[in-house]
Amino acid sequence: MSNSYTAPIVRTSLPGPKSGQMLEKQASQESNARTYPRNFPIAIKAASGSYVEDLDGNVFLDLLSGAGVLALGHNHPVIKEAVKQQVETGSHLLDFPTPIKDEFIDVNFSLLPESMRNQMKIQFCGPTGADAIDAAIKLCKTYTKRGSIVSFQGGFHGSTQSTIALTGLNAPKEPLQNLMPGVHFFPYGHCYRCPLSLQKSQCQTNCIKYLENVLNDTNGGVPKPAAVILEMVQGEGGVVPAPTEFVVELRRITRELDIPLIVDEIQAGYGRTGTWYAFEQYGIEPDVVVVSKALGGGLPASIILYNKKMDVWKAGAHTGTFRGNQLAFAANVAMVEHMRQDKVLDNVVKQGNLFKQKLTELKSRYPIIGDVRGKGLMLGMELIEPNSGLSSPEIARSIQQNALKMGLLLELGGRDDCVIRLLPPLNISTQEVEIALDIMGKAISISFDEFDSAVAIS
Ligand SMILES: Cc1ncc(COP(=O)(O)O)c(C=O)c1O
Repeated sequence: MSNSYTAPIVRTSLPGPKSGQMLEKQASQESNARTYPRNFPIAIKAASGSYVEDLDGNVFLDLLSGAGVLALGHNHPVIKEAVKQQVETGSHLLDFPTPIKDEFIDVNFSLLPESMRNQMKIQFCGPTGADAIDAAIKLCKTYTKRGSIVSFQGGFHGSTQSTIALTGLNAPKEPLQNLMPGVHFFPYGHCYRCPLSLQKSQCQTNCIKYLENVLNDTNGGVPKPAAVILEMVQGEGGVVPAPTEFVVELRRITRELDIPLIVDEIQAGYGRTGTWYAFEQYGIEPDVVVVSKALGGGLPASIILYNKKMDVWKAGAHTGTFRGNQLAFAANVAMVEHMRQDKVLDNVVKQGNLFKQKLTELKSRYPIIGDVRGKGLMLGMELIEPNSGLSSPEIARSIQQNALKMGLLLELGGRDDCVIRLLPPLNISTQEVEIALDIMGKAISISFDEFDSAVAIS
């Protein structure tokens, strides 16, 4: 595939004939648990930059970026070169120290706020996000000698049996039993859909006060936890940035009660929100930071960074064969250098503002858009039924599918998938943002007309 794509083009109905055949074969061979091809009926031939091309020659602008993994888009030349060179030296070397791993560690400490840099240790994990969350929980349990965890409603932390237990979503838990016990869910500061049903004028961040009251109540039913785990911006939960006061208060409470605070930066980290880590924007210092997704420059990698005082676990406390992915380390080092040189974080802020401004304009035109929110290039648009104000997964899906037909890949999330989520590459160009906005505008207009005529008929 050439790198010269400048616009999406859809030549066939979807799926096209060749994609259709491969999707059918996939359905007959692959697990029923497969996900993405159900919403995006395409088989992918190649990908480059912000675009993917299917087997039928249809080209799509990809605002999904491998679920937020591809910070520099598909197959970035800087990453390709770094990986090629590293292949010559070694690719899988367990947890032995190597020069590229050493560089990776230095680079990753250097991305932390200065006050944290010399305080932290690093553990190489799994290499999935879920394995790193599991490691963080094990570390906190070992350090505190406590057994329970506080997590937040709407949060997502993975699909293993411990991380599903920490996740708000009920559906994946239903067929399972005996998940990790001892998880206590508390309301998250989701002001558009206040979990305490309060109006903005009544809100005094009561959700976090509630947490403080319960944890301090000798009759509250929740033993002092080994950790509190939090996403600064809930991603799968519908792109919900935590309010500043909520986070600042949570940090105060966890410090006062001596409870480690784990910040899950798997999706929001690595520049996605405009700073290396989202927690920086809240002026807090977590005890444990969990990083994956974009960390490996498109190759699997995950780490936890944690305060040295917590380093009490024993040798082999968190093993895992694939903790030494040298190719991912090389990709990471090259990616960070490129992101610094090219000021990619500035681009995140610039393009994020452009998206937000234009989507907010669309919101004032179309009453089916209830809320536009997010930070940097982690953005969400909640769709609603205008009369009731209730969220509308149907309208969200209709916009997603209309956009797909025009060559734009948009992910859904939030309660019942009522939110359109944008996770573009962090180096997306202004031209690409404008193309995406143009298609979104058209898709929203079509879906609005469909909704309007459906209401008129009923
Ligand atoms: C915030 C967050 N935590 C954890 C995970 C789990 O990561 P993985 O799918 O790599 O296990 C995800 C994945 O989407 C995530 O968004």
